[in-house]
Amino acid sequence: MKNNNDCSKRVLVKTWGCQMNVYDSERMSGLLLEQGYEATENAENADLVVLNTCHIREKAAEKIYSELGRLKKIKGQRSEQGHDTKIAVVGCVAQAEGAEILARAPVVDMVLGPQSVHKLPAMLNEEGQCTSEKLAADFDVEEKFDQLPKQRKVTGPSAFLTVQEGCDKFCTFCVVPYTRGAEHSRDAAQITSEAKALIDSGVREITLLGQNVNAWQAKGLNGIGRHWRLADLLEHLSQIDGLERLRYTTSHPRDMDADLIAAHAELPKLMPYLHLPVQSGSNKILKAMNRQHTIEQYFEIIDNIRKARPDIALSGDFIVGFPGETEADFEDTLNCVRKVQYASAFSFNYSARPGTRGANMNDQVPDDIKSERLYRLQELLREQQLTFNQAQIGKSLPVLFEREGRYERQVGGRSAYLQSVHVEGPKTLLGNIANVQITAASTNSLSGNLE
Ligand code: SAH
Ligand code: SF4
Ligand code: F3S
Repeated sequence: MKNNNDCSKRVLVKTWGCQMNVYDSERMSGLLLEQGYEATENAENADLVVLNTCHIREKAAEKIYSELGRLKKIKGQRSEQGHDTKIAVVGCVAQAEGAEILARAPVVDMVLGPQSVHKLPAMLNEEGQCTSEKLAADFDVEEKFDQLPKQRKVTGPSAFLTVQEGCDKFCTFCVVPYTRGAEHSRDAAQITSEAKALIDSGVREITLLGQNVNAWQAKGLNGIGRHWRLADLLEHLSQIDGLERLRYTTSHPRDMDADLIAAHAELPKLMPYLHLPVQSGSNKILKAMNRQHTIEQYFEIIDNIRKARPDIALSGDFIVGFPGETEADFEDTLNCVRKVQYASAFSFNYSARPGTRGANMNDQVPDDIKSERLYRLQELLREQQLTFNQAQIGKSLPVLFEREGRYERQVGGRSAYLQSVHVEGPKTLLGNIANVQITAASTNSLSGNLE
């Protein structure tokens, strides 16, 4: 075991959940580095361990308690060697379970919700000891973004940028409105300066993030005289020199307005990929989920987006076994998938979450039926993903290279459709876009030759 015999403090940040947690972790790490911490990958030599957590499904939340069990041993061993270890649980489990975590796992020193992560340094004094406050669970999003560091340490040519937080939609299965709070849009000027700083430090692709990213809005700017919506922001950002690719995620069908659809035809930098979760193909289930749209309205959006950008890669999220889902309702979901033809998708067994309306509904679906349905859905989605990937064979695709491959002389990146692509090529490709002639495809990736 390594000992800390110098005076610098080390921090380990572990992240679960969605890309917004990845973004928060990156910014939080930046803040701690400014406070004199060094990053470590190893809990054995960390003076501070930060667990950034996800509450979306039961399994995600339970992982934290097993992680805390492991950390308790390490904290004990370090203590015997005279080293102190502080443990902070942050993010969505922290928000949902707050004081309960401190009671259930005394090994935890601090608990901070996702809109309070910027307060972490202030909860520690110069020696890394906790000040009196142990719990921070306010929803002050404005303050969060003001206090996160202006400069970011960039790790590759592709970066996330949170533009919207929270959710007012209250789907009956979902904890997000409770863990992230109400919908809040970041200021356009703040977003633009963060985007420019990212590009100045080598970023080529920016993915705008939000729980409901297409609900983003801002008061009239540049004399447009009406509220800016996401399409306006995308247009504005796409004018920044040096930015090559723009993406956004996750969108809600209800906020998929005509301008945003048109942006896919009009903005060459906006990538032909759309993640638009539908959750279920049954109108009865969509209603019970409080999604506030019908399956016909969803199909209309899909038709319009394909008219605007015929090659668009479509992705989605599905929940199987929502309370009351019959075999016929599930068949509607399969039919929706057959009709849309997805390039990729995420699908989950319904997990009853405390505090949500779904958890108290009658007709909960037994686990074995959920799993059997999920298996059938995933088989179909896998087939479609393979079909979509195989259709690229023989084509020339621009790829943004972002990582070294598994083998010597191999580099990897992403196509415009977000597929993972591998080629043999020099490391000098990293950070650049080059054309690749696609020769082979599997469910999860493509390979080919540099042109
Ligand atoms: N804002 C996005 C989704 C955010 S949560 C939207 O409205 O589509 C990401 C995904 O997790 C959801 O799309 C849903 O498919 C899944 N999910 C959320 N709560 C869930 C639950 N209780 N059980 C199973 N899956 C869930
Ligand atoms: Fe959750 Fe629904 Fe909000 Fe998406 S729109 S974050 S699923 S409540
Ligand atoms: Fe999980 Fe919170 Fe994201 S619950 S999915 S980390 S918003």
